[in-house]
Amino acid sequence: MRNLNSMQQKAVDLGIDLTSLPRHVAIIMDGNGRWAKKKGFARLLGHREGYKTLRSVLLNASELGIEYLTVYAFSAENWRRPVEEVAGLMKLIETAARDELRAMHQNNVRICVAGRIDEVPEGLRRALLHGIETTKNNTGITFTLAINYGGRAEIVDVVKQLIDAGTPANEVTEELISQHLYNPTHPEPDLMVRTAGEMRWSNFLIWQSAYCELYVTEVPWPEFSSTELLKGVLTFQQRTRKFGAVVE
Ligand code: FPP
Repeated sequence: MRNLNSMQQKAVDLGIDLTSLPRHVAIIMDGNGRWAKKKGFARLLGHREGYKTLRSVLLNASELGIEYLTVYAFSAENWRRPVEEVAGLMKLIETAARDELRAMHQNNVRICVAGRIDEVPEGLRRALLHGIETTKNNTGITFTLAINYGGRAEIVDVVKQLIDAGTPANEVTEELISQHLYNPTHPEPDLMVRTAGEMRWSNFLIWQSAYCELYVTEVPWPEFSSTELLKGVLTFQQRTRKFGAVVE
């Protein structure tokens, strides 16, 4: 038996089979605001705490052996929030992108983004592009930040590309659409985790998640832990994925 790191050992102790982990985990990091409110803090403090959680969850996922982690950091709909919150979030994500780059690079993390990043503030866009360029040859976990991301907007962007390329209608297939998504080489998510209890997808990876398993926990994102991540993986392994077929 190979040597297990502490995250893998914890997984095995919980009954997880390390040979059938979800390759791609997507997370809707919800509940920062409610967590802050409950504690009497400003909403932004909830997002700051959420950033700390994200840092450790990325490490946990990487140690466990997850190949792709995609997180919903800012949705195309989040612009509707109060201006101070939007500005605070943008600044927080930019600071995180700059401050974490060295550690992520050392940990062999490959950074990607999903979303209309040409519409985000220039400082953030530059920090993201620098992170992507610096880590593009890394071979560890692929960490994708969905920023200014909307699943419907992504499909609209695909359709525009196909029309611009003069694609004839009879050549439009599901495969062709998949090949024009923001990250066409990423496998589809196997497991989507949502924190803070809401039973919705909220326009996240709607094309790619057609067959993915959902795991919703009541725990708000700032309190999400390695144990919570493992509970999601265990639930995933206890489901039978049928992809529309019959499984005996
Ligand atoms: C949802 O909580 C969370 C967000 C809209 C932002 C997620 C951002 C972070 C976790 C901050 C750090 C991110 C990076 C990439 C460094 P909510 O505000 O909708 O919570 P609520 O539903 O309780 O109000």
